[in-house]
Amino acid sequence: NEGSLWGGRFADGPAAAMAALSKSTHFDWALAPFDIEASMAHSRVLFRAGLLTDEELEAMLVGLSKLATDVADGSFGPAESDEDVHGALERGLIERVGPELGGRLRAGRSRNDQVATLFRMWLRAAMRRVAIGVLDVVDALIAQARAYPDTVMPGKTHLQAAQPVLLAHQLLAHAHPLVRDVDRLADADRRTAVSPYGSGALAGSSLGLDPASIAADLGFDRPAENSIDATAARDFAAEGAFVLAMIGVDLSRLSEEIILWSTPEFGYVTLADAWSTGSSIMPQKKNPDVAELTRGKSGRLIGNLTGLLATLKAQPLAYNRDLQEDKEPVFDSVAQLELLLPAVAGMVGTLEFHSDRMADLAPAGFTLATDIAEWLVRQGVPFRVAHEVAGASVRAAEERGVGLADLDDQTLASISPDLRSEVRDVLTVRGSIESRDAHGGTASVQVARQLSELTEQVRRR
Ligand code: ARG
Repeated sequence: NEGSLWGGRFADGPAAAMAALSKSTHFDWALAPFDIEASMAHSRVLFRAGLLTDEELEAMLVGLSKLATDVADGSFGPAESDEDVHGALERGLIERVGPELGGRLRAGRSRNDQVATLFRMWLRAAMRRVAIGVLDVVDALIAQARAYPDTVMPGKTHLQAAQPVLLAHQLLAHAHPLVRDVDRLADADRRTAVSPYGSGALAGSSLGLDPASIAADLGFDRPAENSIDATAARDFAAEGAFVLAMIGVDLSRLSEEIILWSTPEFGYVTLADAWSTGSSIMPQKKNPDVAELTRGKSGRLIGNLTGLLATLKAQPLAYNRDLQEDKEPVFDSVAQLELLLPAVAGMVGTLEFHSDRMADLAPAGFTLATDIAEWLVRQGVPFRVAHEVAGASVRAAEERGVGLADLDDQTLASISPDLRSEVRDVLTVRGSIESRDAHGGTASVQVARQLSELTEQVRRR
């Protein structure tokens, strides 16, 4: 069992199937740069505790930075005999500085505190990259909202015609949740920025090493308070997986609308050639594949979250090997978002909206009925009655096959004496939209205010 991290007590090496099952280098190699950075910090802690001399520290750091270069350019990689990234890198270090010095680095740490620390470092860096990608989608939505300040559209509930809204209002309604997701990433980072290093296998270190100094060295806010918790806890990973899944879901809801809007039946939008695909058999097709892959991959991100939670749920404290299953789902969620986010930003940024089509459809389905009811309320009619009268107006218009604004004075009066001809002033899409001018409403002054506030909020990040 030459070269393994735990050979001493064993007379025999692992069976081939045992080794194959155990192996994690094909995915945990992603931790290698963090492993080396943390090993450098660990050598400094060993030096400060008097466990390495000046010369030994120097030689160790030179060996580790050589190893870092070799990992980065691919000249050092995991071997068939390596169980995980930590063992492989120890082998690499020993190849570079010899077994005497290389064998000193493992003092006062275990792979249990190591892997928990490195996974946190990896996730913090990944969440920062994802946040930038999400903000690019937000920027694309904001740019489109700015490009179409006057475009109106049918607002929907239950996917049925509801009330007219500004397109910009609808687009920003997709930007807000994404900005909250970026907030969630920052908030999750506060809990991820706690260092398990120094916890050892589970009980802490006896060698006089200072967990606070290595935590600071590695950019953590503070060291963990409890070494058992520090090596056993993966709620940071589950929380990260949740925020990543939430981003997937938010992108999926946007994508679903784009898929609908780009059908000829809606006809709201045309996708840019660069962000759509054709059909191998139907020459007329232009398919919204970016949006569909987003909708599809969001399911995969939800699966990664639920799979991880299931892995965690029955584990006693502290470390169990089950925890080796923690990394792949989170790595995968990040990898999928890193593919999706630039594509979604590209697709959204190049959508060409058809304002005339949306304006034609905005009053369809009697979407101004609420405006009749609210006009009546402003004339002093109780809302229950107003709702009845507006409903009767819809029925009358439907029977005659006309729009609400086309009902003549006589018909209006026959529905209710309160329905004077002035009601027609509110029976326009524009009038309806501009009347909803309270904070958060779809009136253009409110959407403009919202746009500048959101832009400011995004700029501050
Ligand atoms: N490769 C393991 C993981 O990813 C870390 C090693 C801990 N193994 C152990 N036997 N204590 O969780």
